[in-house]
This record gives sequence, structure tokens and C-alpha cells, in this order.
Amino acid sequence: MIKISPSILSADFARLGEELAALEAAGADYVHVDVMDGRFVPNITIGPFIVEAAKRATSLPLDVHLMIEEPERYIGEFADAGASIITVHAEATRHLHKVVQDIRQRGARAGVSINPATPVSLIKDILGDVDLVLIMSVNPGFSGQSFIPSSLEKIKETRALLDARASSAELEVDGGIKAANIKEAADAGADVFVSGSGIFSTGEYKKTISEMRARAGE
Ligand code: DX5
Ligand code: ZN
Repeated sequence: MIKISPSILSADFARLGEELAALEAAGADYVHVDVMDGRFVPNITIGPFIVEAAKRATSLPLDVHLMIEEPERYIGEFADAGASIITVHAEATRHLHKVVQDIRQRGARAGVSINPATPVSLIKDILGDVDLVLIMSVNPGFSGQSFIPSSLEKIKETRALLDARASSAELEVDGGIKAANIKEAADAGADVFVSGSGIFSTGEYKKTISEMRARAGE
């Protein structure tokens, strides 16, 4: 069963509560929260304060994607704010195993992510310790970019590694996913799909999410 995780980076933040309610009514599985620090990526976005507010406004699990340097500094704050999944970038920390352990000890599910130019081999040794793997299919920092086609090979490679160890970790793809290309990513082996502009720009969240789900399962 696939999952759709709309990225609120493309939401109207003046109406965040309404947007979250609309996503819930539209059948979203997770809410993807893009946290950016202006160092790991050029953009600055959301902190624990907004995650805590979002937590009060929705019962959907918050899928928090940390695009920040040394994420170990903030795991406690995001866990306390109500994150269900906390994903860190392998490129952003020297002590990935320790961070992943910390996330789980604080009661959240642990994810690891890699950028488009980072090989899957970098995360091979951590796969047994994570609940989710996030393959970036754009360079992180902004919504509305085009899907990088070579990401499909990385999804396939990760799927094969997870299957080989009979892992139940979710395989998420993030960046440039729309109803028009979701099937390719699903066929490559992804089972959680982040989409920002691909959902919010349509204005019809329920119709778009249903269409994505149908196309991914075709
Ligand atoms: C990019 C973020 C994505 C982004 C997705 O840095 O991690 O989650 O918001 O937006 P779209 O779906 O528009 O590419
Ligand atoms: Zn993201």
C-alpha cells in the first residue's frame, strides 16, 4: 500500500490549519514538513515551533525532513514538537548511526536521506537501523523543481538492498513528483511519495491525491 505525503512547503501558511484539515479530508497519509537552515540548503523555512502548531492542527503523522547541518543538535526539539518521522541527511552529520539511535530513543521513527549526487552505497550500512529511506529526486532547497531522471536508478538500487535484507523500512521519494510521473517512481520501488507543487498547485487536493494513488498502483 503506497502512501502520499504532501509537502506543506507549497501550502498557504497564512491558513496553515485550514490547509492541514484539507489534506486530511483529501486522504493524505502523512504531512511532509521541510525544515531548512540556510546552510545545508540555501533556503530557511520551518522550525520546531511550527511543527508543534501543525501537530495541534492535524492527526496525520508529521513526516519531518531535516535539511540542516548537524541535525543531532535539534532531534530532541523536533521529537518533543510531535514529529512522527524524523529524517536526517547522511551528508549533514558525521555520526549518522548515533543520530538515528537518538531519534528512535525519543520515540519517533528514524529516516535517512541522500541528495541526488550521493551514492546509495553511503547509506548501505545504516539500512538495518532505519524505518524510512528518502531518496531526493531534486537538489533540496525549493519546491517546484523538475524530477531528476537518474533518481529512478537509485530508487531501484535501494529497493533491492532493502528487499535483500527483508527490511520493512519505507522507501520515500521527494522532489518533482506529480500525478504524471508517480508511476515511474512506484515501478522503481518507492512506496511513499512526497509532493508539494504537484498537489497544492492543482487546488483540488482530494482529486489529485486520489489520482496519484490510482496511477501509482496501476
Ligand atoms: C525540497 C523539499 C521537497 C519539496 C517538494 O527541498 O525537500 O519536499 O517541498 O516540492 P515539489 O513536490 O514541488 O518538488
Ligand atoms: Zn522534503
